Amino acid sequence: MDTTAPARLADRIPEVDAGRMAASLVPPRQFTRAGLDNYRPDPDYPSQQAAVDAVRAFTADWTSPPGGFFRRGPKPPERPGLYLDGGFGVGKTHLLAALWRQAPGRKYFGTFIEYTALVGALGYAEAVRLLTGSTLLAIDEFELDDPGDTMLMSRLLGELVATGTRIGATSNTPPNALGEGRFAASDFLREIQGLSDRFTTARIEGLDYRRRALEGHARVAEPAELDALPRASDVTVDDFDALIAHLATVHPARYVGLVEGVDTVGIRDVHELPGQAEALRFVAFVDRLYDDQVRIVATGLPLDQVFGAEMLAGGYRKKYLRAMSRLVAMTAPEGPVE
Ligand SMILES: Nc1ncnc2c1ncn2[C@@H]1O[C@H](COP(=O)(O)OP(=O)(O)OP(=O)(O)O)[C@@H](O)[C@H]1O
Ligand SMILES: [Mg+2]
Repeated sequence: MDTTAPARLADRIPEVDAGRMAASLVPPRQFTRAGLDNYRPDPDYPSQQAAVDAVRAFTADWTSPPGGFFRRGPKPPERPGLYLDGGFGVGKTHLLAALWRQAPGRKYFGTFIEYTALVGALGYAEAVRLLTGSTLLAIDEFELDDPGDTMLMSRLLGELVATGTRIGATSNTPPNALGEGRFAASDFLREIQGLSDRFTTARIEGLDYRRRALEGHARVAEPAELDALPRASDVTVDDFDALIAHLATVHPARYVGLVEGVDTVGIRDVHELPGQAEALRFVAFVDRLYDDQVRIVATGLPLDQVFGAEMLAGGYRKKYLRAMSRLVAMTAPEGPVE
């Protein structure tokens, strides 16, 4: 038996590099093949076909061949933004990646957190300079967690839209309800309304695609499975408590670097998270693992039960539910659903 200690995430201290952050603004690996043609709308939920139609309409002037001398091509969409709103695993990110693929020229794809982190790393003016002139900014998981985000996004999107960039966004929250239950959103109605007015909204109903094939709970491994994981640089094993403590010392914008190149994450002795700060950091971590389609092998409490009842009743409920759905997928023995 190999007696060397396994690699630990808790020993990794990722660097941020603004250039690399900008270069990574493309759809995550899992969505490289996501297109409109391989999105299969569920006939029980007509809003799924409607969302595909909305993406086609939004991109029609990009995708149709140039009009002849007498014939004009399709007009650009009425509003500069398309907002895909819906539950977990209904294919919002898939459709956003498909939309991104249709855009000509320079274009970006990132999560809301990645854009706010980019602004944090480059400064506002430099970030605007970088993004200006792009055809499309695709923003996955649009959320307004605090007044700072709200002011930042309302200003940033305003400037970009004014110079011709279109915005695609996904969220679990309709645009006019952003921020609700999280901060005094009513003090920012003007900004939230302003953001919301830029978008046409397509609401996508449906079942969690990931759960179509999976059982209800995150799988719990035997301790022996953790011990048997190969000692390799792309396999890590951490105690849950040490991992949670480490996440507090790394900015969530750097979690991308924390999990870079990791294929399997082992977690020992999972238990309920103590509070909201830990829970929100854990959600951001889970999102990065999911983007990289990492497999999780965990012992203790099933990972989809780490959020307590009180947390699930609060303003971040949807975030937690999404993380739970992703954790079920990543702990499945056959790995996440492709
Ligand atoms: N109708 C569909 N046809 C084909 N594949 C789908 C469909 N819906 C979802 N998928 C696939 O299921 C997986 C989950 O979808 P996706 O991540 O796009 O959902 P989501 O709505 O963004 O979920 P989340 O709320 O977790 O962000 C992806 O691999 C995606 O390609
Ligand atoms: Mg998504």
